[in-house]
Amino acid sequence: MEIYINNNKYEAFDNETIIQVTDRLNIHIPRFCYHKRLSIVASCRMCLVEIEGAKFPQPACSTIVRDGMKINTTGKATEDAQKSTMEFLLINHPLDCPVCDQAGECELQDVSLDHGSYKSNYNEMKRTVIDNDIGSLVTTEMTRCIHCSRCVRFGEEVAGIKELGMTGRGEDTKIETFINQSLTSELSGNVIDLCPVGALNNNLYKYSARTWDLEQKNSISPNDCLGSNIYYHTYRNSIKRAIPKENEQINLSWLSDRDRFCHEGVESSERIFVPLIKSNDKLIESELESLYSIASEKIKQFSPNITAVMSAQSSCEEMYIFQKILRENGITNIDHRTKECDFRYQANYPIFPSFDIKINDIAAMDNIILVNVNISKEFPILSIYLRDAIKNNSTKIISLATYEYSENFHTDIHEVLSPVELERYLNSSSNNQLASIKSNQKNLIIVGPSSSYLQNYSEILNSVSEFAQLSDSKLALLGDLSNSSGAWAMGIVPHRLPGGIDYDKCINANYESSFPSNDIFIVYNLEPEYDFSNDIEILDKLKKSKFNIFFSSYITDAIEKYADIIFPLAVQQESMGTYINTNKQLQKFKAVLSPKGHAKPGVDLLLSISKELKMDISNEKISQEISDILSSISSNDNYIFTDNLKNNYEKEMLEKYIIRSPNTNNPTLRRCESLLNTHDNDNFMSLPLNINITENTKITFTEHSNKIKINAKIKTHTKPENTVLVKLSGRYKQTLGSCSTVINIE
Ligand code: SF4
Ligand code: SF4
Ligand code: FES
Repeated sequence: MEIYINNNKYEAFDNETIIQVTDRLNIHIPRFCYHKRLSIVASCRMCLVEIEGAKFPQPACSTIVRDGMKINTTGKATEDAQKSTMEFLLINHPLDCPVCDQAGECELQDVSLDHGSYKSNYNEMKRTVIDNDIGSLVTTEMTRCIHCSRCVRFGEEVAGIKELGMTGRGEDTKIETFINQSLTSELSGNVIDLCPVGALNNNLYKYSARTWDLEQKNSISPNDCLGSNIYYHTYRNSIKRAIPKENEQINLSWLSDRDRFCHEGVESSERIFVPLIKSNDKLIESELESLYSIASEKIKQFSPNITAVMSAQSSCEEMYIFQKILRENGITNIDHRTKECDFRYQANYPIFPSFDIKINDIAAMDNIILVNVNISKEFPILSIYLRDAIKNNSTKIISLATYEYSENFHTDIHEVLSPVELERYLNSSSNNQLASIKSNQKNLIIVGPSSSYLQNYSEILNSVSEFAQLSDSKLALLGDLSNSSGAWAMGIVPHRLPGGIDYDKCINANYESSFPSNDIFIVYNLEPEYDFSNDIEILDKLKKSKFNIFFSSYITDAIEKYADIIFPLAVQQESMGTYINTNKQLQKFKAVLSPKGHAKPGVDLLLSISKELKMDISNEKISQEISDILSSISSNDNYIFTDNLKNNYEKEMLEKYIIRSPNTNNPTLRRCESLLNTHDNDNFMSLPLNINITENTKITFTEHSNKIKINAKIKTHTKPENTVLVKLSGRYKQTLGSCSTVINIE
């Protein structure tokens, strides 16, 4: 249809609102309550525009265009209407711009300048609103609130938790949480961006910089395999805040709290800024040059008796060079799977884990089965897609979980099963709730990363694949860390070279541990206490080994005790590289900060070691080789079948299950105090209800002949029956591995 805006003719589509057309055409209309991803309430009246033929100006955000409609976004009638609205909005507004974090990017300030008046007819006392504590991430200055309700609608419509609400009427209207509770959503920080004024503020950023001094730099999430796009705002080589960079294929306009607040850890006092070497049992400062030469000497001297473990948070470039240096020097024990204990599936695993479909296609699914993944907590951005699928396509969601948790969307079926019951449930799909899944429907099965911590991971993958084949379902494998897909694709596994090529020299085809005993250990961006599910075993091996080389950004007790040399590794925000996300996209990130002290990006450290080893590797060559490798990968479906699996499950044995703690999943995250102070970091051990616990009950976990005491609250649960659930988050040592643990309760 044709419409006229300010006397110019434009094309518009059926059912478009005026504001949608003008936004598309870059014609400015002021607004407060309207947001393109929220429902329309037309409550602020800031977008009033003159429409020829209408008696009064109409809100552009809720008025649908008609053929031949004539709209004036400027002109006296529009300007008068907007000026009056502005005057009402400012009646109670404190206008404390000099001390307001929003100043410089405030919609109220901008609109007031363009459309307001310098004089007000209101001479009475302004109202003030007492602020409530709503948690460690978002702070409030509610006197500045203009009641646009964006934050309330976000909670209801996007985050799926009604946490902020509007109470009172007229002058007494207030935005607050239910009985002064803290926000619990993993997406809560988005209300800071949505709030058009300085009422909801970023607690980390508060009073730390002025917006006009900040520099904006692109980056990619270092915290999960979705690869959300981020803008970091920096000032004098320090990150002041993070906001979402819109990406219609991944994070839309949103960011998880983890991605928004993770930069706090970059400033931790535990950072390592200088190269360190052990001398008389103490770490002392050294020169990088000496460390390069020591590392290369040790590699040459001890090859092939070296075990190298690397974090899947590293970039593809770091991974590619790491494995190239090691493999070309005869070292084959390379792995990133430090939290797994069942590797029988590995020969049949896809070249890298990913989604069989694009994330955007989730909305078209008829059925989605979640296998052991608490989407709202572990992958909050993905939960937005699932909520949309339920809302727009009535998608049926079936959750099969090994512990009780809640989601921020409706689940039609929620089964709590022990790991073995889970495997059997998928095997007998014709006799349970899965029978309703038909192969002529669009089905998707999403397998969570905590499944990989289980002793029967191979059986679960096999059962999932058999059911997927039977029901013609697509499969989605979610990685544990931000570049888990990259780790597989770049050959950070013992049995495959980059590109998924089988490596016949693999000595670990049937191995039971990702870190066999060896003369030397190389540990890259992993902290022995926290990043290994079996920390007792790795600590024991580090103690016995002849030399330990660490690449680390932070110091921990174990690194201090066992490292012989430590390379000061720059954090992700100080490095450049690429990650492969779950959508199979290779995303580039640049350094947002210059590395602090003498820390260096991993690629620089590794290239210097390769030079010492007289290897011919350069940055340019690496990029070309990686892109050649990735373009040669042909993607098949994710089905993983493993023959001759023998279940070694003992009946009636209490099984231990570690609950994944996504807020402490990498070294930088676990140093973010604000995130650790949120609700989700309660430590607990949950025992089956059929076990009576009194004050005198003794609970002992025995793992590899070590008796372990853990310090956590004890809860009880009814299902699954034979499972002890353990959640140790924050800076608690892992203490309990995912491998067999004997649990005695007396
Ligand atoms: S919200 Fe905007 S107008 Fe209000 S005090 Fe802050 S900067 Fe000024
Ligand atoms: S707090 Fe901000 S987003 Fe929420 S209603 Fe008030 S002005 Fe709007
Ligand atoms: S933006 Fe249209 S009424 Fe608020």
